[in-house]
Formats: sequence, C-alpha cells, structure tokens
Amino acid sequence: MEIIYKPTQDEIKKAAKALKDGHLVAFPTETVYGLGADATNEKAVGRIYSVKGRPTDHPLIVHISSISQLYKWAIEVPEYATKLAKSFWPGPMTLILKRSPLAKDFITGHQSLVGLRVPSHPISLMLIKELENLGANGIAAPSANRFGAVSATSVSAVIEELGTFLSTTDLVLDGGDSDVGIESTIIDCSGKFPNIMRPGLLSSEIIEEVCSEVLNFIPSDNIIKSSGLLKSHYSPAAQVVLEGQILPGEGFFAMAEIHTPPGAIRLGAPTSLEEFAKNLYAILRLADQKGLKRIKVVQPNGTGLAVAIRDRLVKAAANEH
Ligand code: TXA
Ligand code: MG
Repeated sequence: MEIIYKPTQDEIKKAAKALKDGHLVAFPTETVYGLGADATNEKAVGRIYSVKGRPTDHPLIVHISSISQLYKWAIEVPEYATKLAKSFWPGPMTLILKRSPLAKDFITGHQSLVGLRVPSHPISLMLIKELENLGANGIAAPSANRFGAVSATSVSAVIEELGTFLSTTDLVLDGGDSDVGIESTIIDCSGKFPNIMRPGLLSSEIIEEVCSEVLNFIPSDNIIKSSGLLKSHYSPAAQVVLEGQILPGEGFFAMAEIHTPPGAIRLGAPTSLEEFAKNLYAILRLADQKGLKRIKVVQPNGTGLAVAIRDRLVKAAANEH
C-alpha cells in the first residue's frame, strides 16, 4: 500500500485513476476514514469485504459528489429526502433510498435500498469528482476498519487497522484527523416519514426542523441489514464499561468536569460534546496501545450529539470478553 500524506490535486487524480483501475483507496471524510472502491466494479467492491473481514450481505454506502448524482442511484425519491439532501449535503448524513438499476446487489447486500452520502471533506469530494470525470459513478466505502472494530479517524489508525490486509497497489490518502469523529447520521427515506437508523452529528432535532415528522429507530417494513445496528460494534480489545467502579490502573474517559477515580489512568478530558465525539475512537485505540484491560467511559448527558455518542458507547461496551 502507498500512503500519500497531504495529497495534491495531481495525487488525488492519481488516486481516482487507481479506483477506476479497480484498486482500493482509503480516504478521509469529515466523519471517519472510508475504504473506497469504484461502486460499479464488483471485483473491487468484493475486495472491500475481504480486507475488512465483513459479511457480504452488509450493504455499503455510495459516496457521490452532489445531489444531481442522487437520481442516478435512487428512484422514487420522496420530497422530504430531497429537502434533507439540499439542506445537509455535503455533510455527515446518509440517506437510504429505493435503488436504481445502477445499485447492484453487491453494493446493497441484495436489498432493494441503497445508501447515499455526499461527504464534505475537500479530499473526499475532489476524489469523487475526479472519479466521476473518468466516467464512473461514485465510491462505495464503509468505514476503514476491520469488521466490528473501532472506526479510523486518522491515517495512522487506518494503517493500524488495514495495513496488513491492503495490497501494494492500494492507496491511503491522508487528510488529517476527522473533524466529527463518529459516523454519519443514517436516515431511512424509503417510507412515508424519515426514520433515523443511526444517530450522528446531525441530530433528530435538526432534522425535525426540515421535516416536520421524524421517527427514531422504528424498524422498517423491509428488514434493513445495517452492521452499525448490530448490538456489538465499534469495540476495542480493552473491555469498555459504562457503569460501576473501576480499579487503579484501569483507563478512564469522561467530560472534563468529572473527576478521575483514585488510581485510574485518565485518557482524555473533553470540554464539549464535539470534542468528546472527535476524540472518542482515538481514546479507545489509546487504551489498547497502553495495553489496558478495561476502560470506563462516563456517558455524556443530553440530546443532540450526546445521543450519537451514547449509541456508539453502548455498542462498544456490548463486546463480549
Ligand atoms: O460516516 C460514515 O457513514 C462513514 C464514512 C466513510 O462515510 N461510513 C460508514 O460506513 O460508517 P459503514 O459501512 O461502516 O456503515 C454504514 C452503515 C452500515 O451499517 C450499513 O449496513 C448501512 O450503513 N447501510 C448502507 N447501505 C445501506 C442500505 N442500502 N440499507 C440499509 N443500510 C445500509
Ligand atoms: Mg463501520
């Protein structure tokens, strides 16, 4: 694998060509890093699954450059979905829509729906545009981590996760630390009302301002397979605990105003929810790097981003040890 630090426009063009030629390119987005392939190349998309170690019936998000590309991949787009796209793209929001014939089974996990997102990180946007300039239609990309593990929010985390699984012709683009730090809000737009499948920075309160009626985690008619919805996910090797006492020498992560229990190893002290989300996965990685067996994380209170943080923490803590 070749790592390109602070890629220039020419290097991003080269990465787009690599995608077109069927190679994988890990790239930065504002949420977490993605592991990308040309979304219409079955063989390349197949490699995403083997590099991640992910079951092939789990669908992938297609990353596109603008709302005009949406209609290539989706049909029967409801008015509220168009409103959402116009309001929040480019940005940390994925829409689940009825698929067009372009969205093949190897992207959708044999479901009749497709996930679409326009990311806002300038490197990801430029990469998608350059790929579209070569006649392709978007980048299929899950988070750039092994299946069930902690998402990568920096280039070093991508290498730690996937370095030994990528081949020499695959690329990794560096774009600094991810701004948001947790994955996009996923909204199922296949029904009469928007239904939030995975909470994120874009909260149900903000979505409600655009669409008057919003559902939260109501199972759809179609059983949607979404690996982020599995009970256990986002898990480091260290055991994550959310309640109870911890012992001296164990890890601790909480908002700055919460005191460190005696003897615990404090791994971070964010002063805002934004900072908590941005650092969360790096902190879970740090616990593993320090060889800690257990880390206690105090869940932040409140609505908005706090809901998304608690969602990830509950799943990280559900890992069986
Ligand atoms: O922020 C993000 O969304 C990041 C960046 C790279 O864009 N991507 C990401 O991808 O988190 P992934 O694959 O790790 O999680 C996406 C979730 C999965 O749980 C997947 O099952 C669900 O979205 N998903 C994708 N397409 C879907 C579809 N057609 N129907 C239902 N769920 C879908
Ligand atoms: Mg993921």
